[in-house]
Amino acid sequence: MTSNELFQSYFKLQPHSQATAHGRVNLIGEHTDYNNGFVLPTLIPQKISVSIGLRDDNKIIGNSQEFGESQCILGSALNGSWLDFVLGAIHFIKQTGVIIQGINIAVKSDIPSGTGLSSSAALEIAILKTLIKIFNVSISPAELARIGQKIEHEFIGTQCGIMDQMACTSLKLGEVLFLDCENLQTKIFSLFSTHHFLVINSGSSRKLSEGNYNQRKMETSKAAQFLNIPSLRHATADQLNKIEDRIIYKRARHIVSENNRVLQSLDCLENNKPMKFGRLMDASHRSMAEDYEISSKELDDLVNAAKSAGALGARLTGAGFGGCVVVLVSKENSEKVASSVAKQCPQSSLVTVI
Ligand code: GLA
Repeated sequence: MTSNELFQSYFKLQPHSQATAHGRVNLIGEHTDYNNGFVLPTLIPQKISVSIGLRDDNKIIGNSQEFGESQCILGSALNGSWLDFVLGAIHFIKQTGVIIQGINIAVKSDIPSGTGLSSSAALEIAILKTLIKIFNVSISPAELARIGQKIEHEFIGTQCGIMDQMACTSLKLGEVLFLDCENLQTKIFSLFSTHHFLVINSGSSRKLSEGNYNQRKMETSKAAQFLNIPSLRHATADQLNKIEDRIIYKRARHIVSENNRVLQSLDCLENNKPMKFGRLMDASHRSMAEDYEISSKELDDLVNAAKSAGALGARLTGAGFGGCVVVLVSKENSEKVASSVAKQCPQSSLVTVI
């Protein structure tokens, strides 16, 4: 069922507008975005569709097979339901000068949530896109991404970076986004023509807002403060030796080494070097497991299973502490690796092949 069909059957009305936003998988460059560093996401085919109809009272009435039925009043307090995303989107769209009363909203999603594939950004961006279509507001992809990020910060409570929202607003399927999070400069690359990325869900999820994410953000900003630099983007490996606190040192070392890996990975995409890309992915996973400490047994098992089945590289993707891994395989080996991982890790599931 599409979001339009859901809207029509639930509200017995036609929606005024509909828009979609895809989930993303980050190929390399994790937790670097809120340190003003580099990231390399690409879209996954799974997406969220939103259909909206305007109301002439101040009620927000929502229906989604995945997130449930919910209602509230415009301007009411946040209550932890998915309508908080809607309240946030309306709040910021109103700031562009449009007048919004209540809305009816239907949402359809096939992005598994809590798995590091950015269902949250896709939801806020799809809602924003639907609203700006209705009101004919013109907003650039980068501005739209910033609004999405503000919804996370001010309405959801996750101090996320800008990667997910920028991937959602700036990419087409099949494109890879190199994003410099300091100035939002972008460069688009193509995927390897001879290799696939498998996205595999470990089956264990952990919500971002649980605090670990915000804690990593605090630790890395402490490191930057200690080094007296605006962000770890500007740190060099040598400088890090000045940091005495072992934990803060390890967090900072991940960011500096990960930024360096993203930059190296661009040459791999540009000059078709999948083997080297795979090695960078492996090093990235090790750094996330040992220095950033955001991996889990399930994620490590998946990475090891993929590697032992012949993958060129494998790493956890997204915020970590659960969720998905991304695996680089040659096209001819892709089915073999996927089925071997499924056998070795029966609780895992293949989300998509890109
Ligand atoms: C989440 C956040 C992003 C980014 C990743 C980790 O997806 O929303 O901003 O920090 O985690 O790379």
